Amino acid sequence: MATVLNALSHSLKEFRILPGYTPADGSAPHVLLETRLCRKGNGWIGLHTPFLSAAMQAVTGAEMAIALAQLGGIGILPVNQPVEEQCGTIRKVKRFKGGFQTNILTLSPDQTIASVVDIINETGYSTFPVTTTGEFHARLIGILTDKDFDIRRDHGCLVSERMKTDLQAGVEIESLGEANDLMIKYGRGFLPIVSKDGILQSAVFKKDLDKHLKHPGESIDDKKRLLVGAAISTHPEDRERAQALYEHETDVVVIDASDGHTAYQLEMIEYLKQAIHVPVIGGNVVTADGFRFLVEAGVDAVKVGMGIGSGCTTQQVKATGRGQATALMTIAQARDEWAQQTGQYVPLVADGGISSPADMSVALALGADSLMMGNFFARFTESAGNLVRNAAGEIVKEYWMEGSMRALNTRRYTHIKDSFFEEGIAGFVPHVGSLYDKLPTVIQMIRATLATAGCRNLEDLHQNAILEMQSPNALMDSQVHDMVPMNVDQQIL
Ligand code: IMP
Repeated sequence: MATVLNALSHSLKEFRILPGYTPADGSAPHVLLETRLCRKGNGWIGLHTPFLSAAMQAVTGAEMAIALAQLGGIGILPVNQPVEEQCGTIRKVKRFKGGFQTNILTLSPDQTIASVVDIINETGYSTFPVTTTGEFHARLIGILTDKDFDIRRDHGCLVSERMKTDLQAGVEIESLGEANDLMIKYGRGFLPIVSKDGILQSAVFKKDLDKHLKHPGESIDDKKRLLVGAAISTHPEDRERAQALYEHETDVVVIDASDGHTAYQLEMIEYLKQAIHVPVIGGNVVTADGFRFLVEAGVDAVKVGMGIGSGCTTQQVKATGRGQATALMTIAQARDEWAQQTGQYVPLVADGGISSPADMSVALALGADSLMMGNFFARFTESAGNLVRNAAGEIVKEYWMEGSMRALNTRRYTHIKDSFFEEGIAGFVPHVGSLYDKLPTVIQMIRATLATAGCRNLEDLHQNAILEMQSPNALMDSQVHDMVPMNVDQQIL
């Protein structure tokens, strides 16, 4: 007879954290959210903030990976793309020297202003270098911004007729300080950097530079380049992908599988451990057995979550999965037992079903060292999904699950392409602006939670937080009730 556990599986949303004593020097600004992403050799890859953007096509591209690493977390590049693209994105992130951009859109002198307007509408960018061929690594001949033409009148004009040709460029500049000084001298917010013979090499935006200066907690490697991770599947052909990712210096490899407790995952971990020297995050698991299986195989961190992603239909079509709170509690306990037996701490990444700051704090309190989020990150300007208008005329971001027809990620969800069935939907999430503007507020909220709980850091939270389950009525009281908010836009995220 099957075993039926006589216990309920719980969601993060059912828990609240009790207050503890907050000393004068324990308020939110004093709280640290530094965390361990995974083991690396005898040490760790550390993050200043406990966030991973999900390995999903709608979420993590170069822009998201750069923004999140600047804000102290790390982006994980999805597996469902050609390996050259995935490696190309690692290169872009690694080359992003806190301001020097090498992947901005360039224009050709022969294209029309109408085509530029389309690009502006599509991308939101407003400043473009113009090169002889329209390609990035070509001779710089002008700059065109959205202020250089009249949208109504100049549609038919060519870029060459409107671009500014008094080029104020830096020549072979490598220091950000020097680039900053030149921008101040020229009174411009944008500085193209060219080689001695005038070939465009990179570009610096003052606003990016300011961001770099504003984010001392960036996630960086030992060469001061931003951290980035990349996903692979358990399919044998991804051994080559793993090699390529390793050669392109990914900081971590994440095995992207909806169920990590499989022979395929074991084979892949064994291969990775002998072939490449990069930390490996295994998953996903939701049971103590699954956790032990992965740590015995040698992974450097374990990803937890099944069937609870925001657009996930796994539980409906397969009846497999577990409430994220129960999965985390079970695995955190297995992690403690493992640590007692072996002296080895294994960081946990909570993945899926986390979208509000309250979910984040509860997941961390229940034992997660970091949080992987898809839905939450998809909402920001920097996510890889398109910005579109929905039927109601609102500006929203596309978000589609990796098990949806749209993603057709047969690597993650099935070993037989012909029998693919959906485990997720495609849809939209609200657009909430830039990660640079909004994530610091969320970080403040989590810090404030720890301060109220009387905890100074995540280790303290793991050991000393007191959580309590809420009755349905207590949960109703915990939401806005008995009144209507004045302006829904004022709600945070
Ligand atoms: P979210 O943050 O709640 O939207 O969950 C994101 C997570 O859901 C990802 O990191 C994956 O682990 C998982 N996921 C992605 N696509 C699917 C799917 O199609 N079905 C089930 N889970 C998915």
